Amino acid sequence: MRAFLIDETDDLRCEVVDGAPPSRSSSEVLVAVTWSGVNFKDAMAAEAHSRVRRTPRLIGGVDAAGVVVASDDPSLAPGTPVAVHGGGLGVSRDGGFAEQVVAPREWISVLPDGVSPHDAMVVGTAGLAAMASVLALEDRGPLDGEVLVTGASGGVGSLAVTLLAARGHRPVASTGSPDARDWLIARGATRVIGREEISDRPERVLGTPRWAGAVDCVGGATLAGVLRSLAYGAAVAASGLVAGPELSTTVYPFITRGVALVGVDVVEAPTAVRERLWHELALTLPSVDITPLIERTIALEELPAALDAVRKGIVRGRILVDPAAH
Ligand SMILES: NC(=O)c1ccc[n+]([C@@H]2O[C@H](COP(=O)([O-])OP(=O)(O)OC[C@H]3O[C@@H](n4cnc5c(N)ncnc54)[C@H](OP(=O)(O)O)[C@@H]3O)[C@@H](O)[C@H]2O)c1
Repeated sequence: MRAFLIDETDDLRCEVVDGAPPSRSSSEVLVAVTWSGVNFKDAMAAEAHSRVRRTPRLIGGVDAAGVVVASDDPSLAPGTPVAVHGGGLGVSRDGGFAEQVVAPREWISVLPDGVSPHDAMVVGTAGLAAMASVLALEDRGPLDGEVLVTGASGGVGSLAVTLLAARGHRPVASTGSPDARDWLIARGATRVIGREEISDRPERVLGTPRWAGAVDCVGGATLAGVLRSLAYGAAVAASGLVAGPELSTTVYPFITRGVALVGVDVVEAPTAVRERLWHELALTLPSVDITPLIERTIALEELPAALDAVRKGIVRGRILVDPAAH
């Protein structure tokens, strides 16, 4: 079986290997991978002294999609289309950058009608985080005004812009990639702003209240800027840390504007949450052309360059991995 191995037993090596197919226990599911996708976390897992990888040697890939090959669960008959993601996939045990993957039942989502394994990897873990962010905002009440999306040209950001627009909201895309402007407008952004325009009045504790909601996958100073510029009662759904894990803010946005900071996680999310996300995606995706969200499709051999591009923040949308391609 061909797979992308990350090996830091000594010096870090990342390379395609041809090894034995994986074996499974009775509580696990064997999946033939037809598609995988490249996520920011994959780039972190393939770094030397990685903060997220919990073992020196494993097959990378935090998500994958394909069909069930073998399972003891009657709801997962051979041929069932599934997505595999979350838990320790690609960080503490072998992941989806391979022709086959074995995972515990809890990490498997049966794909709803209308969502193919290819669609599922265009969405990927990034898209699930985007969907979870949108639902976190919608669950609080009507989004009456502009909804900010940070890191808009990346995986989570571009899916969030797409999903917000498809669900009738008014996404404003914040990006550090001026070249992505027209592409983001085509994805449904009502307007595109620079990273520095998220927040104003730096000399005061609070900026102008602007955003009826926000989807943030950037963290750090960006998230702090979002918090001080939310409209009264608005929320920001925070899922990521590409600009850093620290958050330096004040309590003023919370105690004078009643804003909320809502954490988003899809990695450890229970089955019921995952099912709701896929259900909502199945309802929303038919009205969207997701093909332009694919930046490119690559073979396993091209992963080092793709992971480097993700690390540099120069990927527009999603990179898909075809493990059968040479
Ligand atoms: N909580 C969860 O369950 C969950 C699930 C999936 C992903 N995540 C997290 O979400 C984050 C984004 O993941 P992704 O796969 O969407 O990554 P990605 O495709 O690399 O996108 C990140 C985007 O952030 C912007 N950016 C990059 N570096 C930046 C910096 N230093 N300052 C400000 N903006 C910067 C860039 O967009 P622009 O050029 O357009 O600004 C970039 O495209 C990661 O931290 C990931 O771990 C969390």
